[in-house]
Amino acid sequence: MSKKYRAAIFGCGMIGGLADSPGDRKIITHAHAFQQSDQCTLVACCDTKLDNLESFKQRWGGSVRSFSDYHDLISNEQFEIASVATDTATHAAILKELLALDGVKLIICEKPIVADFEQLREIEDILSKHQEKTVLVNFSRRYNPGFGKLAETVSSGALGRPEYFSGVFSKGLYHNGCHVLELLEWFFGPVAEVTVNANTLFDGDSYGCYYLEMERCAGVLANSRGDEFSIFEMDMLFQHGRIRIAESGHRLQIDKPEESELYEGYRMLSDVHRLEDSLPQSMAHVLQYGCDALEEKKSDAGDILAAHLALSGRLLRLRDRLAAGETKIRFDRT
Ligand SMILES: NC(=O)c1ccc[n+]([C@@H]2O[C@H](COP(=O)([O-])OP(=O)(O)OC[C@H]3O[C@@H](n4cnc5c(N)ncnc54)[C@H](O)[C@@H]3O)[C@@H](O)[C@H]2O)c1
Repeated sequence: MSKKYRAAIFGCGMIGGLADSPGDRKIITHAHAFQQSDQCTLVACCDTKLDNLESFKQRWGGSVRSFSDYHDLISNEQFEIASVATDTATHAAILKELLALDGVKLIICEKPIVADFEQLREIEDILSKHQEKTVLVNFSRRYNPGFGKLAETVSSGALGRPEYFSGVFSKGLYHNGCHVLELLEWFFGPVAEVTVNANTLFDGDSYGCYYLEMERCAGVLANSRGDEFSIFEMDMLFQHGRIRIAESGHRLQIDKPEESELYEGYRMLSDVHRLEDSLPQSMAHVLQYGCDALEEKKSDAGDILAAHLALSGRLLRLRDRLAAGETKIRFDRT
């Protein structure tokens, strides 16, 4: 198959291309996703930091044309797919210019999509005028087959009604908890209320213990600074079983009850179905989803983007209200 899409990467840092290398089994950067794709060729990249630009070029090929100013990339190159992997505060300005380019069909933007409400409103407004473009926010689990299987299990009702969830994760509620909230909103609908049990502010983010009421389920989340280790785990209890996310999402399980061999009359969650770990190829799945959406093999990209924009608004509100010391934060239905 010929490589039909030309791609450009804006931001050549960790997620842009420095967190993995050609030949690695893991595909967790934008550059690696383009390199392994049989539909895309990376033609250009840009970064204001010349060290990163040089390291990126050494890793991903000297023929990729590089720029230190993204405006020069935009003026000089033709491409159909763009990855925005710069610092969060710069996403909105770059997105705005990319959306105005006729040739650009797919944009994969890192999360968080914006840094504040003003940028969110501006981007929402421009996006509403460019609905012909496919824009994905890289909440990578959303495009991952394993997590997709869990979402299907929830929505099919195969485990009955949801009862509670509990999750623990490292790093801030805004910066890393956004992945947890994205997952919870995908499975259980928008968050309606957050009640703070404990909260510590550090470096512009929140750490503590929170009770969340989602549209279809409620539960608790707790996070820590994660200076010594990373964690991302979740148990979701249903009428007829449990979903378990462990080992940072590498272990996904659907556990169903069966008669206990030890205790007569008791049923234990010993019927364990472990799903294949597709997280190491997360960026390849995001890109494949984007290419499929361009070819109309996926029809829900617009709905997912709308959900992610709405989530971004709730996350910004949560971040700001927690910083203001509020202990109960309600979210309007929008
Ligand atoms: N989806 C995920 O799980 C995930 C994981 C890590 C990072 N991220 C997000 O990805 C983004 C980048 O994170 P990172 O860890 O790769 O950071 P990084 O600092 O390693 O890389 C960002 C790069 O963007 C460059 N840059 C900044 N402004 C620029 C501009 N105007 N033009 C061109 N280049 C510019 C910087 O010089 C830097 O090289 C952030 O928004 C972050 O939140 C998402």
